[in-house]
Amino acid sequence: MSTTLDPQDTCVLVTGGAGFIGSHTVVELLQGGYRVVVVDDLSNSSEVALERVKQIVGEDAAENLTFYQANVLDREAMERIFTEHRIDRVIHFAGFKAVGESVKKPIEYYHNNIENTLVLVDVMRNHGCKSIIFSSSSTVYGDPDSLPLTEESPKKACTNPYGWTKWMIEQILTDLHTADPEWDVVILRYFNPIGAHESGLIGEDPKGIPNNLVPYVAQVAVGKLAAVQVFGDDYPTPDGTGVRDYIHVVDLARGHVAALNWMNGREGVEIFNLGTGKGTSVLEVIRAFSKACGKDLPYVIKPRRGGDIAENFGDASKAEREMGWKAQYNIDDMCRDSWNWQSHNPDGFRS
Ligand SMILES: NC(=O)c1ccc[n+]([C@@H]2O[C@H](COP(=O)([O-])OP(=O)(O)OC[C@H]3O[C@@H](n4cnc5c(N)ncnc54)[C@H](O)[C@@H]3O)[C@@H](O)[C@H]2O)c1
Repeated sequence: MSTTLDPQDTCVLVTGGAGFIGSHTVVELLQGGYRVVVVDDLSNSSEVALERVKQIVGEDAAENLTFYQANVLDREAMERIFTEHRIDRVIHFAGFKAVGESVKKPIEYYHNNIENTLVLVDVMRNHGCKSIIFSSSSTVYGDPDSLPLTEESPKKACTNPYGWTKWMIEQILTDLHTADPEWDVVILRYFNPIGAHESGLIGEDPKGIPNNLVPYVAQVAVGKLAAVQVFGDDYPTPDGTGVRDYIHVVDLARGHVAALNWMNGREGVEIFNLGTGKGTSVLEVIRAFSKACGKDLPYVIKPRRGGDIAENFGDASKAEREMGWKAQYNIDDMCRDSWNWQSHNPDGFRS
């Protein structure tokens, strides 16, 4: 059963805590006084990210961080971690996340994302920890009938295995609560996280050619890629390019802390959209980034990509109403901070 806890007395296990959203969330948790245990196999991240997290929060708060390099699929390792620490809450980020790759590697995606969640909740249950915050995605809404998307909007067929893993894990966690009402499950459906910590010390560090727009734009800005590829300029949107709800990763990270504070003492399954409620087109992002880096960024128009939808933005008023959380940063802030990170770390954590 969940109970109200002080941050100082609360130990939060963060799976995937060395990754993009995870590392920013660990900063906010440590700054909020929480004790944090990170488990990450570093399959898509670097331990340097956690060294930078410690630099940001300072020596005292850094003492509250413990890191295990382990795969959540490794049941023995997870049992050990839960034996060594009294874990009160779990924030579950660990998983593969590249949409295109998931189409080519469905077995790896279903195995890593779904199986690791099953191992995790089983180990949690064995240790009497029944509070979990799960990283879901607005992708579970599929191609929307109407906008903005609310938590009541129907879940629809996904266009790729990655999306289905989110869809199914939401269902698994809901079934878990049906079987045992003591489970306290918060499902956070993110819109499009971008930006970086304002220190410029941590940010998104994609391996190879970025799949997402803003990391791609950032690499054009530092001269590593020639021009931004804009997939489709004939969508039924104001300028013809795709519209998305971009959210600053620090706002998103704070959304997890808000959820953690909110879930104290509750049991149930609750879903929250985390977005800004505002749609921004691809061309608007390129313009905002050009402003941030002080030069006009070249782009080329390409045909639409299969599986892409025209427009997607969410209504995040439930998170404001219930948890007192609201996004603070706008697209200019997001591009400024992405540029600050990218220009100081052109090779990510490898530099
Ligand atoms: N970034 C986005 O656009 C976005 C949008 C919606 C939802 N999400 C979800 O949020 C979560 C975090 O995303 P991110 O952008 O920070 O991705 P990320 O790849 O930067 O972080 C995921 C982390 O999990 C680790 N990991 C993967 N599988 C693991 C395993 N089996 N055991 C231990 N560690 C493992 C990786 O090494 C990485 O550090 C993911 O679940 C992702 O699907 C991301």
